[in-house]
Amino acid sequence: MKKIAVFASGSGSNFQAIVDAIKEKKLNAEVSLLVCDKPGARVIERAEEAGVEYFTFFPKQYETKAEFETEILKRLRAKGIEFIVLAGYMRLIGGTLLADFEGRIVNIHPSLLPDFPGKDAIGQALEAQAGVSGVTVHYVDSGMDTGPVIAQKAVMIRKEDTIESLQQRIQQVEHELFPRVLEELFNQEKVGGVQS
Ligand code: GRF
Repeated sequence: MKKIAVFASGSGSNFQAIVDAIKEKKLNAEVSLLVCDKPGARVIERAEEAGVEYFTFFPKQYETKAEFETEILKRLRAKGIEFIVLAGYMRLIGGTLLADFEGRIVNIHPSLLPDFPGKDAIGQALEAQAGVSGVTVHYVDSGMDTGPVIAQKAVMIRKEDTIESLQQRIQQVEHELFPRVLEELFNQEKVGGVQS
């Protein structure tokens, strides 16, 4: 069983989908740690409800990203974490974590990358009057949503869509796709390693 850490900054609906998939035995993993850079975020309540240990911190209390990532790394090692799952973690991963985990960090992004990377991907798609957007699961490198794509699923955009309505349909797709892709990845790793 894969020991994973989920990193999140917000509501944590994807964290919840992962926890639920594990409970329903659709995903053979254990969420051994939640890492959260927003101490008041809803995802922390979800971790408490699920009995998942968490580490939460104020990035501004550290002088550099390397400092707080060193702190995170210490905790990941102490817990024997094998894989990092970014689920709405609103910051770039720095060299300290990449040095140990590159190829073992994945992210979910609410667009069909390389379209609409970065913040407010849903707003960007509406602004561009795109006919289609979607969801991407990808490996994480040092860039902003630039790592190799693992899986994508399209979501059609309707004329009457608002940020809220499109986000709702995109998140439905995320909650189904993310645990399924993680399960596939972890199974591939068992038989010879995933290429990044
Ligand atoms: C998701 O839409 C994800 O694609 C993006 O951030 C959002 C997080 O939502 N990276 P939640 O906190 O999982 O509800």
